[in-house]
Amino acid sequence: MQVLYHDVIIVGAGLAGLRAAVEVAGKHDAAVLSKLHPLRSHSGAAQGGISAALGNADKDSPEWHAYDTVKGSDYLADQYAVQVMCNDAPRAIIELEHLGVPFSRFDDGRIAQRPFGGHTRNYGEAPVRRTCYAADRTGHVCLHTLYEQSLRKGVRFYDEFQVLDLCRSEDAVNGVVAVELKTGRLVLFHARAVLLATGGYGKAWRTTSNAFANTGDGLGIALNNGIPLEDMEFVQFHPTGLYQLGILITEAARGEGGVLRNGLGERFMERYAPSIKDLAPRDIVSRSIYSEIMEGRGAGPMKDHVLLDLTALSREKIAGKLPEIESFSKIYLGVDPAVKPIPVQPTCHYAMGGIPTDVNGRVIMNDDGAEVYGFWAAGEVACVSVHGANRLGSNSLLDLIVFGRRAGKDINRFLDRECLSPLPLATGSADKVRAMISRLRESGDGEPLARVRNDLQSIMMDNVSVFRDEEGLSGAVEQIAALQKRAEAIRVLDRSSTFNTELLEAIELQHMVNYSLAVAVAARERKETRGAHSRDDYPERDDANWLKHSLCYLEEGGRIRYGQKSVDLSLAETKAEFVPKERKY
Ligand code: FUM
Repeated sequence: MQVLYHDVIIVGAGLAGLRAAVEVAGKHDAAVLSKLHPLRSHSGAAQGGISAALGNADKDSPEWHAYDTVKGSDYLADQYAVQVMCNDAPRAIIELEHLGVPFSRFDDGRIAQRPFGGHTRNYGEAPVRRTCYAADRTGHVCLHTLYEQSLRKGVRFYDEFQVLDLCRSEDAVNGVVAVELKTGRLVLFHARAVLLATGGYGKAWRTTSNAFANTGDGLGIALNNGIPLEDMEFVQFHPTGLYQLGILITEAARGEGGVLRNGLGERFMERYAPSIKDLAPRDIVSRSIYSEIMEGRGAGPMKDHVLLDLTALSREKIAGKLPEIESFSKIYLGVDPAVKPIPVQPTCHYAMGGIPTDVNGRVIMNDDGAEVYGFWAAGEVACVSVHGANRLGSNSLLDLIVFGRRAGKDINRFLDRECLSPLPLATGSADKVRAMISRLRESGDGEPLARVRNDLQSIMMDNVSVFRDEEGLSGAVEQIAALQKRAEAIRVLDRSSTFNTELLEAIELQHMVNYSLAVAVAARERKETRGAHSRDDYPERDDANWLKHSLCYLEEGGRIRYGQKSVDLSLAETKAEFVPKERKY
């Protein structure tokens, strides 16, 4: 088998991976592996913006930003990490601008900022314009800029290489096993440092804003290597996905003046969040939409969605600030948003949980902070944790940029001071992968993978979505455990080596069932309502028992072992604003 060496292997070419690559390049030899062309990474689908207390539009401060982030997280975010992110945000935006990101501007030339859900001034007093943007294509322009910068700095790209496993020597990580999609050949990538930046996992739900590729591969790989996943029960449903399709309609539409209406034409968010209304955090807006629908006030003949009304905005404003969603709405639903409201429904959007890391992206194994030598994670695959139980819109791009850069810097330090030569690869580094591929190719009588994947998406959508209860979650745990066996035995009919997408999807499905089981187990265990985790049978937040992060480990036989670790409340020790309290908007 071919063995290739690079000092640093970065898996994933979205914003977190590319920001890390830009940091490492020029100092060490960095390679980025991606199962897609980098410019197809899902970061490019981010629309509405990136938050930073620049204060270009309204008076603002990083401390108010941190307060909003902690409150938005329903107090589960680690407060020191939040402070690191919010303090670094203004610098990060100026740096992006200098790298070439074409941000939208105010007339005076400064970077424009718009309101987004949950972002306020003066500790919740009123919405603040904190989100920097490039129309509604912010992720797209950031991705292009960082890709260009990576090429300029000599980063080596391996496009369409799908990573299947980590290489381990004793407890350290020193490479990855990948398959080249074009040929089907396995390649060992030997390295001194490995960074996973593989993004999120929304594809386990039927309705999602996530791209086809978002199958949580990094999470599955971590679980297979004995690394736990943190806070997996917290899965964000974005309030405004295009009806029946789930495609994202940016929150910026509400930031620019759009309002949500039910089937009776009422502006229902006035009842649920009287002070900031349609600009409440996403968990609250999504729950409110479902409540309207369940109480019979939905829109359309089926009364199964609500309406996003932009008709008060001028056609020029829609075309100038929201061109992407204008075209999505016209193309997919035949609705001109300047004339008619857009039918929308909540859509699975973002994973607050992931691989536990410290603020430098180092993967940590458990509550005592033990690091995995040579291993980093950043972006949506990671859990720093700055989003806790619910992420504020536009804090995601910020997380990618801030912690991608920090991981890159920490890797540079590690290579300069801690790991001066690569640890030799263990013999048989690809054995597990080979065995899995043979099993999938040889299982003659299993089911087609699409049936197993559809069943998984139905279970997650019906029982592990916005509203949850013990019965649904326990049923989901049992059914997903059965799906693990069915996924292992699926039938792969395609025998070719060239772009064998059936085999690759079969491998992705193994990851999907494993992390979905972690989501369902963690949701069943958490007997309270917090952020995006809303239990009908435990409707209150319970700080006395549950102000804790969850940890899920995959054990032999596919079972999940559940653990916990404490939340960092360091800001609350010095500032009353950060002490957990009732979350009202
Ligand atoms: O609504 C949006 O534009 C999404 C932004 C985000 O998830 O941060």
